[in-house]
Parts: sequence; structure tokens; C-alpha cells
Amino acid sequence: MIGREEKTKLIELARTAMPNAHAPYSGYRVGVALLTDRGNYYRGCNVENAALSITLHAEMTAIASAVAAGEKNFLALAVFTPAEYPPFPCALCRQALIEFNRGEMLIIATGKDGKSRETTLAELYPHPFSPFHLLSGDKKT
Ligand code: THU
Ligand code: ZN
Repeated sequence: MIGREEKTKLIELARTAMPNAHAPYSGYRVGVALLTDRGNYYRGCNVENAALSITLHAEMTAIASAVAAGEKNFLALAVFTPAEYPPFPCALCRQALIEFNRGEMLIIATGKDGKSRETTLAELYPHPFSPFHLLSGDKKT
């Protein structure tokens, strides 16, 4: 559980990350902020490329920043998209987030009118493929 102040800060950080997006091809800019169990915040934005398929989603870049700083337990994530219908993280990002959370993670989506929707990672992705499945599988040697 995180408090109102942390939620407000997360949304604000996601909003300020959005203009940094490199999205010349889609024109669709996304800003993200992540809160870790150590109380630190990491921002991310989408990074497109002329080789379109190597585009990085905003969530992925925030995850990479947090992990590069030595953080592997995430409490909450906010996505800011200056759109009428702001989305929650896509399926790929849900899988990427599960690696660093066991389902209690708060996910907030905010759009251009400043209104937010909230859910949890468990609700967005109920039966994830997790590190547990890999560890419990037979190992071919
Ligand atoms: N995008 C994200 O940053 N996160 C998602 O989960 C969905 C899509 C970005 C990728 C691309 O730069 C733009 O949105 C349009 O698809
Ligand atoms: Zn995604």
C-alpha cells in the first residue's frame, strides 16, 4: 500500500517524463514513474527508432533505470499519456513488471485531463509466467 502523497508524486514524475519521449514515428508520447520498496522513484519514456521494431516502451526504460540502480522490488507504477483514453501498460510490459513484483503492485494511468484510473498488476495479468515456473521446470542437461 502506498499513500496519497506517493501517488501524487508518481503521477507528477510520469507527467514530467512524458515530454522526454522520443516518438517521432508514432507521435504517441508516454511517461512512466516507478516507486521501489526502498522509497526511490525512477522515470521512463518511450524511445522509438527508425528500425521500428526495436522501440522501447516507457515502462521498460523505467524498469531498466531501476534495475541499473540496484533496485528489484517495485511497489507502484504510474503511466502518463496525453490522451483522452490513457492506457494501462501493454501485455509485454505486464510480463516485464511481474519479474520484479508478485502481483500487489499498484498501477495508475493518467490522461490529458489529469484524471487517473487505478488497478493492480495482479488484476491486469492474473496468470503470469513467472520466475517460479522456470525454477520448477525439468532441466535438460
Ligand atoms: N508504448 C509504451 O511506451 N508502452 C506501452 O505499454 C504501449 C506502447 C509506446 C511504444 C510506441 O513508442 C508508442 O507507445 C506507440 O505504440
Ligand atoms: Zn508495453
